[in-house]
Parts: sequence; structure tokens; C-alpha cells
Amino acid sequence: MVWTNTEYKEKLMAALPMKHPWHNRFHIEMPFGLINDPNGLSFYQGEYHIFYQWNPYSCEHKHKSWGYIKTTDFVHYTLPCLALVPGNSFDLDGCYTGCGFVEQDKLQFVYTGNVKNDKNERESYQCLGSLQADGTIKKEGVLIAKQPSGYTAHFRDPYIFYRAGEQYMVLGIQNESLKGHVVLYHKKAGSWEFAGEIKTNLGDFGYMWECPNMLRFADVDVLLFSPQGLQSTETKWQNLYQTGYIVGNFNLSTLELRHGDFEEVDMGFDFYAPQVFEANGRHLMLGWIGMPDRGEDYPTSDKGWMFALTIMRELIMKNGHLYQRPIHEIESLRSNKTELFRRDLTNYQGELPRGSEILLDLVLGETKQIKFEFHFGLEKITFTYDRQKEVLCINRNAMKLGGKGIRKFKLVAKTNLRLHFFIDRTVIELFCQAGEKTATLMYFPETDCSPNLVIKADGLVTSIKASIWQMGDIEYK
Ligand code: FRU
Repeated sequence: MVWTNTEYKEKLMAALPMKHPWHNRFHIEMPFGLINDPNGLSFYQGEYHIFYQWNPYSCEHKHKSWGYIKTTDFVHYTLPCLALVPGNSFDLDGCYTGCGFVEQDKLQFVYTGNVKNDKNERESYQCLGSLQADGTIKKEGVLIAKQPSGYTAHFRDPYIFYRAGEQYMVLGIQNESLKGHVVLYHKKAGSWEFAGEIKTNLGDFGYMWECPNMLRFADVDVLLFSPQGLQSTETKWQNLYQTGYIVGNFNLSTLELRHGDFEEVDMGFDFYAPQVFEANGRHLMLGWIGMPDRGEDYPTSDKGWMFALTIMRELIMKNGHLYQRPIHEIESLRSNKTELFRRDLTNYQGELPRGSEILLDLVLGETKQIKFEFHFGLEKITFTYDRQKEVLCINRNAMKLGGKGIRKFKLVAKTNLRLHFFIDRTVIELFCQAGEKTATLMYFPETDCSPNLVIKADGLVTSIKASIWQMGDIEYK
């Protein structure tokens, strides 16, 4: 089944605006179908172009197309359209993840065409496309027809970057010993040449690396990617699949990347496959709020849609670490500000607006352990900061529906703790300290009600300063 344009438009207009209590209001999501990775992110002709993996027909990982919206302010978006759909012999089983780039004044794309051949084996083609005036992507042929020898057909997610005016591409790949890696291609005299595998010191680091991004901040290189198959520990790699980055110096002739530790990008339950692009001097990152192969954690599938995208985040490199900040544009969604300042307390309780941003600054004083609970009727999600262990723990076990469990991560807050929450209908994004750590998660409250924030400390907190805003809805028009 494939919709005609008219059928698609009718379906979309009937489904917008999204009103179900589980539909998020200031996070990008679709009224039907399944979305995953952000794709083709670009700034072109004064607008931000956002594409994403979308199966509009069902909540299965099938029929992967590219959905498309544009914005100038990250508040008003164009109506979602289907820009790229599977159909030719190079992408029949999915137009998988890819990136955008501007060349000869045209917005162009490279994406992975996924094909299951007659023997039901995977084939991966790296395909070129270009944006047309009607918002569709015209398919312009195949740039790389097969994986290099020594690797399996798990070869995907091209990402283009530039060094000294030359064009390079990184791709995620699996070698024949079933280990994940990233390979580099270099564009020479108009064609893409295989340069080799990027040499890291990560060793055996999972069976597949997806969605690589090669970034540069002043004088350091960052390889950000999503490895699959890492063994979890108490405070690390607790999700089924990870997203993280290594920072160092990448030598384009030897392909050596000398780097520090692999650091996770986000410590929540539901974050994967982000894409970063540069625009107007900022590195901007958009992530997928979801997790492959954990469909049972997301009960909206029964209602016909699944997953969301994060708030756009600006990345800042400081001392070899990436700090993340919600982009300032979304401040225009704020209204009805409440401010409070309390001294010497152990408890606080207050009702939150539906859809809120909460900025908490605490001087911890005598407290050793402090809990921040978000109550939704009888259900709750708890964030506990243990000052001695320097660990933040997120507990979803008191929710009835959807994914449960605990996530713990290291967070240093000697005397001051800053937590910056965005609470949408089924998404929470938390930025800790100055964006040093983030945690993104989904939750599915049974009752449709305003949340309550409850803070409980085991000793006197010297002071709490809170700013709370109601967040407005983003719009598609
Ligand atoms: C990551 C991923 C990519 C692939 C796409 C398919 O979530 O598996 O590797 O291109 O999703 O939808």
C-alpha cells in the first residue's frame, strides 16, 4: 500500500493538530507512523531543513522514507511532507539515514539505499539526491555501489564533512569478524574513493557502529557515533544501544584518530542516532527519542504513532567535553513565568503547568541526598542525586505503562546543583549543571493531569531558586 499525494494530505490534515494527551507539544513528532533518526539536517537559503526517518504507514521499522519540515525559528514549522520514498532498485527496502550538503547552490543529500535481494540478503547503496522546488528529493543515482572488501553489507549512514576545502565522507560499517567500525571516503576528481578504516584505540567495541558524524571544534576533531553491542555497567552503557563520542586529533593521511575516552552523549533511556550540522557558527544536534528493538517500551504504537525528536541542542566544546544547551530560539515558547526562592528547607511541593520548562539552582548545604519527583496522579518519575556517590539516578519504576527501569550516571556537584528540565506530555529532557550531562526519556502517564513537582532532601538545603515557565506548542502550517 502506498498513498497518493492526495490521500497523504487528507490523512495529514485530519490528524493535525495533534491532540491526544500522549502527543508531545513542543517536541517534533508525527501524527501517525514511526519516526527515527534525524536526516539531512541543513541550513539553506535562510531556513533550517529537517528530515527524519519516517514510516508513515505503521509503527513497524519498515518502508523507511524521509519526512521533511522546515523552520526559521524552531517554533513554526512547515507541514510535514514525504520528501524521499523507497522505490527504485537501489532503495526498494528503505531510504535509510543520510546527510545534507550544499554544492553548486543546491541542497543535496547522500543516503543509504537498503535492498533485500532475491536471496533475502542485504545490499547497501550510497545514493545521491537533490532537493526540488516542490519539497521532494530527486534521486540522482548511486555514489558507492557496494561496501569495501572485508566488510559485511551493514554499511550505512553517510555523513559528509570538509577539511581544507576537500570533501570527505564517513560511514558506519561492520567488518567480516562482525565488529563495528567507521570508514572514510574521499572525493577525488568527482568520484568517491575508499580511503580506509578510521583507526581508533577502542579495540573490540560492539558489532556495529551506526550514524557516524565527524565534527571539528577549533583544533579538535570529534567522532560521534552510535555503537551497538556494548556491555552495560552500573553507570555506563545502560541502554540496549549507545550514542557517544571520542575527542582528539584526526590525521587524514594515516587515518589515525588519537583520542580520549568514549563519552556518552545522553544518559536517559530514550536517545539514539543523533545528527549534528553546522549553521551560522553553531554546531546543532538533533537526536531521536527512542531506541531500536525496544518497541514494547512505547505504548503509543497502539494509537498509531511512535517516537519523537529532541529539542535542537547547541554543542559547545570545553576542555575536551561536549556541553549541550537547548537552543535559545525555543525561549520564545515560554510564558507565565513563576519564580521562587527558598532558604533552609528540606521539602518543596508545587503544581506544574502542562508542558513546562523548569530551571532549578540549588545550594546543597547539609543535604546528602535529594529527590526530585514528578507526580502524574498516582504515578511518578524520580530523579535522585546522591552527593557522596556523585551519582544521579532516574527511576521510572513507579510508572504503569511503557518502559521502566533505572538509569544512573556520574554527575559532579560539589556545593551547587543546576537541573534544567523540559517536561512535555510524554518526553522529559534534563540538562544537568551547565549542560555537562543530559538525560532524555519517555513516559506514558495513565491519567491526563498536571504534574506535581515534589522535592525532598535528607538535610537542610541552603537555597533553591526555581524558574518555571509554561511551554507553548510548536506549530505545523
Ligand atoms: C539507526 C538506523 C540507521 C539506519 C536507520 C534505518 O537508528 O538503524 O543505521 O540507517 O536507522 O531506519
